[in-house]
Amino acid sequence: MGQPRADVPAPIDPTTTAAWARLGELAARYRSDDGTWTTTLTGLFTEPDRVEAHTHPAGDLHVDLSKNLVDAGVLAELVALAREVGLEGHRDAMFAGERINVTEDRAVLHTALRLPRDAELHVDGQDVVADVHEVLDRVYAFATQVRTGAWRGFSGERIRTVVNIGIGGSDLGPVMAYEALTPYVDDALTCRFISNVDPTDAAQTLAGLDPASTLFIVSSKTFTTLETLTNARLSRTWLLDGLREAGVLGADDGDDSPAAREAVARHFVAVSTALDKVADFGIDPANAFGFWDWVGGRYSLDSAIGTSLAIAVGPERFAELLDGFHTMDEHFRTAPLPQNVPALMGLLNVWYVNFLGAHTHAVLPYAQSLHRFPAYLQQLTMESNGKGVRRDGASVRTDTGEVFWGEPGTNGQHAFYQLLHQGTRIVPADFIAFVNPAHPLRDGETDVHELLLANFLAQTRALAFGKSAEEVRAEGTAEAVVPARVFPGNRPTTSILAPALTPAVLGQLIALYEHITFTQGVVWGIDSFDQWGVELGKQLAKQIAPALSGDDAVLDAQDPSTQSLVRYYREHRER
Ligand code: F6P
Repeated sequence: MGQPRADVPAPIDPTTTAAWARLGELAARYRSDDGTWTTTLTGLFTEPDRVEAHTHPAGDLHVDLSKNLVDAGVLAELVALAREVGLEGHRDAMFAGERINVTEDRAVLHTALRLPRDAELHVDGQDVVADVHEVLDRVYAFATQVRTGAWRGFSGERIRTVVNIGIGGSDLGPVMAYEALTPYVDDALTCRFISNVDPTDAAQTLAGLDPASTLFIVSSKTFTTLETLTNARLSRTWLLDGLREAGVLGADDGDDSPAAREAVARHFVAVSTALDKVADFGIDPANAFGFWDWVGGRYSLDSAIGTSLAIAVGPERFAELLDGFHTMDEHFRTAPLPQNVPALMGLLNVWYVNFLGAHTHAVLPYAQSLHRFPAYLQQLTMESNGKGVRRDGASVRTDTGEVFWGEPGTNGQHAFYQLLHQGTRIVPADFIAFVNPAHPLRDGETDVHELLLANFLAQTRALAFGKSAEEVRAEGTAEAVVPARVFPGNRPTTSILAPALTPAVLGQLIALYEHITFTQGVVWGIDSFDQWGVELGKQLAKQIAPALSGDDAVLDAQDPSTQSLVRYYREHRER
């Protein structure tokens, strides 16, 4: 791990900028102190050409920002804020490979993972593009071997199931993308994912699998992560026991026997930046795919961390995914800020968090295949921007990262949309949908995908424009119930449409949110690429573990609440 840099200049405090002051004045025109909306979406929609003015293309995405609580004046000030805090300069520094992750003194170059082969980027004298494509070529060659059956298990069986073992960025990206691209997955292959150190995860994921046809990919940037190494060891034991049971290995082939080691080599590969630790674990470094410390875990799907996906959908589709990322990178890198969709969406989030009081942000895909997308975004956004300290170590002077959450529509409609429509809190929401379904099913005369899209459109309209007391009364509603049936409206949403959920479109969507997150982090002056906030709990877990298994000295060193909980555990644990 790099050392924190001592020469970090103080970021521009956004709250001291002229734009911030003007945004504060404008916000007062939107919402009065008692929370009443004084500017409404209904009013804003009387502006001529509002939809055209606030709808932008970005790659294949059609992004309609018009149902956001902004007018041209607010947007101009948000863009001015971006300029005052130096968004464009920071963006260019990231793309150029400057060490903008200052607390770890690292470059932040996930954008280099999707540069085309003929691009050029040298960092510290190293040809980054050549390095990236060398690993990609190895991943693609391996994926092809597995897909064609040239790579087989120890007994000669074809690989039918690929199990990715990883957590956080080494899990969420691969599983989210696998689910999203299921229509592109080879029929003869299935991927499964083990992440949690809860033994239930490994037990249930491995249940029913045939060890002879199962390939494990141990994915861990650091190769020190407790959950992943534990699950990798459990899986290795499961493999060897299973091969012995099937008679593929002899009963006296111990775990360290040449035959067992050969079996592990056929069934385990690794993805990591720490190839020495991969070898220590017993995986042949020849079967390991590397990446670099300038790839953050939550930005690593498009590195070798995506190997399970490359096997499942094949190198060509994986390359299309990378092209999609690159398309959005180019948009973010080159589009002027007033038309730059990731920058605008990031700035809108700043507006909602810092000026209109939003604490959370919903992401609502109207696409079942994106059911893990909100979970993926939770790590991306909250591990990046959930910080109270700026790049130079000073405390921030304003709120930062909002809570991201979401579920696919229409399921969410029957669960939490009540709060979105009538609750007291402002929850900006992104609605995502695709024109063409993966499965164009019909229910008699009805195109079922159109039912889904009708709900997408209805929800954003209801959230924006609501339903007045007069409209409710006109339906003959008893007066006593009228207030409960009023929809106040004025709930901001962004609508994102694309032709279909292809690999390229998925890449564009992910990169869109990466750059939204980047934009917010730059405004707040924080390092969006470290994650020190996850460390304390990891350290304490190691310290506390012996107390659970009976160490009284460790137990006595705990706080009273922890001691009481451990005692309860010890009393009730059945061995
Ligand atoms: O604990 C958080 C974290 O470090 C994430 O940032 C990372 O994606 C995850 O753990 C997994 O880390 P690794 O890939 O090193 O196992």
